[in-house]
Amino acid sequence: MPDFSAAFARRTRLRGGDELTTILAGSPPGVLSMTGGFPNPATFPTDEVDAISARLVREDAAVALQYTPCAGLASVREYLIERQAALQGRRPEVAELIVTSGGMECLALLCQALIDPGDAVAVEEPTYLGALMAFGGAEARAAPIGTDADGLRVDALAERLEAGLRPKFVYVIPEYQNPTGRTLPLDRRRALVELCRRHGVLIVEDVAYRELAFDGASLRTLWSLGPDVVLQMGTFSKTFFPGVRLGWAAGPADVVAELVAAKQNTDQCAGALGQRLVEEYGHAGGFERHLPAARALYASHWAALSAALERHMPQGVTWTEPTGGFLTWVTLPDGLDAMALRPAALDAGVAYVPGPPFHAGDGGAATLRLSFSHLTPAELEAAAERLGSVVGAALAPAEA
Ligand SMILES: Cc1ncc(COP(=O)(O)O)c(C=O)c1O
Repeated sequence: MPDFSAAFARRTRLRGGDELTTILAGSPPGVLSMTGGFPNPATFPTDEVDAISARLVREDAAVALQYTPCAGLASVREYLIERQAALQGRRPEVAELIVTSGGMECLALLCQALIDPGDAVAVEEPTYLGALMAFGGAEARAAPIGTDADGLRVDALAERLEAGLRPKFVYVIPEYQNPTGRTLPLDRRRALVELCRRHGVLIVEDVAYRELAFDGASLRTLWSLGPDVVLQMGTFSKTFFPGVRLGWAAGPADVVAELVAAKQNTDQCAGALGQRLVEEYGHAGGFERHLPAARALYASHWAALSAALERHMPQGVTWTEPTGGFLTWVTLPDGLDAMALRPAALDAGVAYVPGPPFHAGDGGAATLRLSFSHLTPAELEAAAERLGSVVGAALAPAEA
């Protein structure tokens, strides 16, 4: 067999993250997995998707099975524009909105359009691993900015900008952040927009989990506060289903135009069938009908996990209290290493994602991410009990 490794691009060696691909690929039988941030299949609106797809194929094949314009079908963009207006109180112009093949594709487009090797991108520390991998693959330097219980520390970003950091953009996940589950309060949102406007720095706002507030309430988006300095990227993966591979970006027209140009070099257009599905499902009130049940499901899962963590975690272990989404972030007592504990956890029948890969810097050894989207409340109880005993056993020698 020929060895092609000499043909692989330099950036394939920069990528990292293979360990995580393995972790997310699945867990051995019998292991209760809290790894992947996947939506619960019980939230997939299968009957509607079945009926709408059949109708589209029967009645609209010339559009739904065809290529589309690069920025998306006109009717779909119009639907998404109205949706932004209804949900966020601002109506983007046609030139301010592009249909993407999901959030990850939007990150890839941003990298193509904005990043030259060596450019800086400011990120929350910790942040979404997929974003760090995309930025790393584009040979960007991720500049970690500190966070606290309220998410991004805007004062820390201000210090870095004043000290000369010139990022191509600041990447932020304001709601139920991946991996921490935290939400950026309104005063920080205003301060962030104001700061970035003053420095002429683009904000990339990732709203992947925004519509999954447990109580349905939400704060103003960064994009609605500062459409001149914010590019918002959204996805239908968590509110419809990931298999549709569909999302949007709304932001300054010149940035959106560059994303459209970049898309000509990737898939040229998001799949027409998925675009039409979202449009028809949306017009038929699907999101309004189904999202309350999805929010209630995730809220009940969090209630179960939260109570179980209280019951089973040893003293000194802390975790975040998300008000939406799928994720909580656990901090172990100093000296424990979540990566090193992973084999013992798997042996005990529980899986999590250790914290370090979510960090652009070196931190996070004592942290880990738990997803509560998938397991049932009874399984979450058992998973927390198993995790509690693994952490307890690791603490025992230190305490002896
Ligand atoms: C914060 C965040 N952004 C983007 C994505 C990617 O979404 P998509 O499925 O649309 O590529 C995810 C997926 O988990 C995510 O957690």
